[in-house]
Amino acid sequence: MSVVNNNAERRRFLSGAFMTFGITLGLGTLGGRFIQFLMPDVAEKKFSEILLGRVDDFKGSSAKFVDVAGKQVALLETDQGFSAFSRKCTDLGCLISWDDSKDQFICPCHQGVFDRNGKNIAGPPPRPLDRFEVVKKGENIYIKVEVA
Ligand code: FES
Repeated sequence: MSVVNNNAERRRFLSGAFMTFGITLGLGTLGGRFIQFLMPDVAEKKFSEILLGRVDDFKGSSAKFVDVAGKQVALLETDQGFSAFSRKCTDLGCLISWDDSKDQFICPCHQGVFDRNGKNIAGPPPRPLDRFEVVKKGENIYIKVEVA
């Protein structure tokens, strides 16, 4: 009779110990995630400026293309100044070209179309073209790129 009670007590003790361990582990993990959510690891981004060329080289309504420092850039003069986009189509990464007659960027791979603001307006591209920040210093134009 007492052996049965000891076994039952031992099982109850072990069951409680495992449950307590499990709850503690679960709450610890949850608490860690909550703290991570409240204080995300925000590393300060670093940027560098890459020279594209002289302002006069990019005047006009047509887009101009520049390959610089591993970036393929489409630069376009607008009423608000210059806009710079990545030439990589946001569908599968083909290089876009410019159609003067339609005033649009065209992707030759699957006929994706972007307006002069880089917005996807036809075809499969799921989002606008990636944009670079343009910096104009004197007679030169630069784009800002994130440095790893
Ligand atoms: S890769 Fe440009 S439309 Fe598909």
